[in-house]
Amino acid sequence: MRSNYLVFGSPIIEDEEINSVISTLKSKWIGTGPKVNQFEKMFSEYIGTKHAVAVSSCTAGLHLSVIALGIKPGDEIIVPAMTFAATANAVIHANAIPVLTDVDKWNMTIDFDDIERKITEKTKAIIPVHFAGRAVDIKKLNSLAEIYNLKIIHDTAHAVETEYEGKKIGCYNDLSSYSFYVTKNITSIEGGMVTTNNEELANKIKINALHGMSQDAWKRFSDNGYKHYQVIFPGFKYNMTDVQAAIGIEQLKKIDRFAKRRKEVWDHYRNELKDMPLFLPPNEQPGTKHALHLFTIMLDIDNVKLTRDQLMKNLHEMNIGTGVHYISLHLHEYYKNTFNFKENDFPNSKFISDRTLSIPFSANLTDDDVEDVIYALKSCLS
Ligand SMILES: Cc1ncc(COP(=O)(O)O)c(C=O)c1O
Repeated sequence: MRSNYLVFGSPIIEDEEINSVISTLKSKWIGTGPKVNQFEKMFSEYIGTKHAVAVSSCTAGLHLSVIALGIKPGDEIIVPAMTFAATANAVIHANAIPVLTDVDKWNMTIDFDDIERKITEKTKAIIPVHFAGRAVDIKKLNSLAEIYNLKIIHDTAHAVETEYEGKKIGCYNDLSSYSFYVTKNITSIEGGMVTTNNEELANKIKINALHGMSQDAWKRFSDNGYKHYQVIFPGFKYNMTDVQAAIGIEQLKKIDRFAKRRKEVWDHYRNELKDMPLFLPPNEQPGTKHALHLFTIMLDIDNVKLTRDQLMKNLHEMNIGTGVHYISLHLHEYYKNTFNFKENDFPNSKFISDRTLSIPFSANLTDDDVEDVIYALKSCLS
């Protein structure tokens, strides 16, 4: 058994990130400033959009996106049930209503037939989640958006590298909100980025992320002297700091190296785990690029003697950390009670919730770490 604990997702932080943080701290400009500006430029070039606005988290980016699109109280927004709470909470924070839909049992991305069943006159937008980094079918999404005149906000928390027909997801539709939380493919500790090709939306998001103060308010204390600003909207405190951006910039430079390592681990896991009582995540669909953010396995509970939770406990006792992505939103107390959901309202999301666990998966894993995970799984399931 390994001697130290292996967490399921850990970042790679090297001298470049550390030195960049130190030099930013020494520059004394540690709030929102030139580093944030540089990170935004690099990110918009990487994604291929005209604009990228740095924010404090993907959750903040989703909330700002809902508001920027002019969603009104009582409007409905379609959200997959199989997601992290932030996707639905961002809708609720804007006083709109998240309408849950089921997902595909194997791909874990939004079920288009269920979307159509859930659309009403009040539906204004869809927030598809590119689950674990797997691209949602943009053609199907666009056709629904066109027929029903819906806005699209992509939840790209898992999907920095995700592509559809040769273009990054952030290039499509209205807005996309990315996450740089510690476990993500690249991190700024906490942080997010909203991408768009729409200048008006980008400006709204930038302004509303900093109290609703007129543009470039972050420069108000610059060496060009104090500048007056106007508050044009009762905005939020959702800005990213230069210390975070200093880390994000160095991480973005290394994104291809990190992706290459995750692909090696992905292929090795798929090969070594294929004969076990597990459902493995399918490879990417043709015409797409998977960001390989999570390696979510599902325990075939009908053919083994233990539950998913018992497997997680046994792995934990062998010093292997795991996560659950996710327990479907409709099974959580708040959504269940507020929207009166029943367990089987979203059968595929329920199926996944009962079986899924995420095993350690990051560019930080050594070959020995990967072998330890495989060995532990084999021992627990033999
Ligand atoms: C699908 C999904 N959406 C949104 C978020 C929120 O990201 P953040 O922590 O940057 O707010 C997460 C976070 O893990 C997520 O997994």
